Order: sequence, then structure tokens, then C-alpha cells
Amino acid sequence: MSTQTKARRITANDIRARKGGKPIVALTSYHAHTARIIDPLVDFILVGDSLGMVMHGYETTIPVTVDMMILQGRAVMRGARQSLVVVDLPFGSYEENPEQAFRTAVRVMKETGCGAVKLEGGARMAGTVGFLVERGIPIMGHVGLTPQSFNTIGGFKVQGRDPAAAGSIVVDAEAVADAGAFAVVVEAVVEPLARDITDTIGVPTIGIGASPACDGQILVLEDMLGLSDWTPKFVRKFGNLSGQIEGAVRDYAEAVRAGDFPSMDHVYKPKS
Ligand code: KIV
Repeated sequence: MSTQTKARRITANDIRARKGGKPIVALTSYHAHTARIIDPLVDFILVGDSLGMVMHGYETTIPVTVDMMILQGRAVMRGARQSLVVVDLPFGSYEENPEQAFRTAVRVMKETGCGAVKLEGGARMAGTVGFLVERGIPIMGHVGLTPQSFNTIGGFKVQGRDPAAAGSIVVDAEAVADAGAFAVVVEAVVEPLARDITDTIGVPTIGIGASPACDGQILVLEDMLGLSDWTPKFVRKFGNLSGQIEGAVRDYAEAVRAGDFPSMDHVYKPKS
């Protein structure tokens, strides 16, 4: 038996219990190495279907498949030891009916080992959220801007600008929270609406482009690191990784061209 004490992994219930408490810190990750770096610093890691855009260069999340989510979800689980790992259900894998959603969620949880899944949609998905939660699947909701609906909402736009639209987003958030979601991502809404949702629902709101009036925040890791070539306007950059990578690769290329490379003799002796 190992004598090492393993850090207890954060659960969906731990996140739910943080409502109104210390702000919840979350980031996306799609790889073992970034997951390993951010794991001790965040409360949960989302393997977001934004990987379609960030990793694969698609223009939307629509082409992302369940297999893609599972591959990257497994990588993140190998890197993350203590944060809750949440994996997105991609477009087309859950909307048809609760049974389809159940089959997809079970496959994702069994094949990745993640602790929860996220799905997009409000009132229309509440029945599915309830069906999954009753069967042991922790669900994170996602309302406001729901990128999988890109083709019906007509682009990545701020949501809920007029009172009727704002009201229906509050209803959406309430519906998924009441159906049993342990937290709800609120994307691209103005501050008064984010505050209204946060004050109305009994589980944490996780904002992305939704002001500080949420119980926690999430950003796409590559966006906040300054690695993505395009980011939404609301993204605050905490790094300039593209510039650092470019500088390092330039230095490397110059060193190679100048023959400025160390001999390996200090590592291994050539055979005489
Ligand atoms: O896919 C994703 O990265 C997300 C976040 C934007 C919340 O859903």
C-alpha cells in the first residue's frame, strides 16, 4: 500500500457548496501538460469544446466530436490530480433526448474518468439535466451565449441586451439549476443580468465575459495566456505566450543556423 497521501479531488458537490463564498477559479485545458501546471491553482478544469477552435483551427465548436472530447479529457485527467475535471458534451451528442444525453455522458465519464459534464441550453434542456442528475451524472449548465447555437443566434454576440431576452436567460439559468445542475456557466451577458442570475439561482454562476457579478470565473487558457490569434473582446490577457514562443523559436533558429549548439560530450562519451 502506498504511504503517500494523495490530495482529495474536488467534487461537483464541493463546487456547489461554494455558492456565495470565495470566488471559484476555473480555466480550460485540453492537454496533460497544461492541466498539470494549472491543477494546483484552480478549483475546476473544463475540457471545453472550444478545443475545436483553439487546438484544431475550426471557426466554431460545431465540428467537435465525442471522440475528440474523450481523447483530450483523458489527457487532462492524466495531468490533473486535485481539481474537478468537467468535460463538455459536444454539439449533436445530447440534444435529441435525455436517453441520447445519458449514453453520451456515461461514455465520456467512463472513458475519461472526469467528475462531471457540461451541456449548453436552458429551459429546453432542463428535462435532460434532471434525467442525468437522477442517474448519477453531475451536470454543469451553460446559458447566455451558447456557442453551439452559433448558426441560429447568428454569431458570438452579447446576449440578453433587451429586457425580454434578459428575462428569458434568467428563466434558463433557473430551469437548469432547479433541475439539479451543480453550477451554471453564464457567458457574454451584461453585469446587471449576471447579478440578477447570481442572486436568483441557488448554485454557483461561473462567468465568462459576464462581469465580476458571478460566483466564479472561467477563461480559455490559451486566450488568457496570449496564445490565441483571436480572442473575444472581454478576455483579459495575463500573458504574452505567442510573443515568448516566437522569441524563443527565433533564438533557436539563429542558434541552429550559426552552429551554436553544445557538444553532447558532457552527456555521453563518444566511442573511441
Ligand atoms: O468550451 C469552452 O471552453 C467553454 C467555456 C467558454 C466556458 O464552454
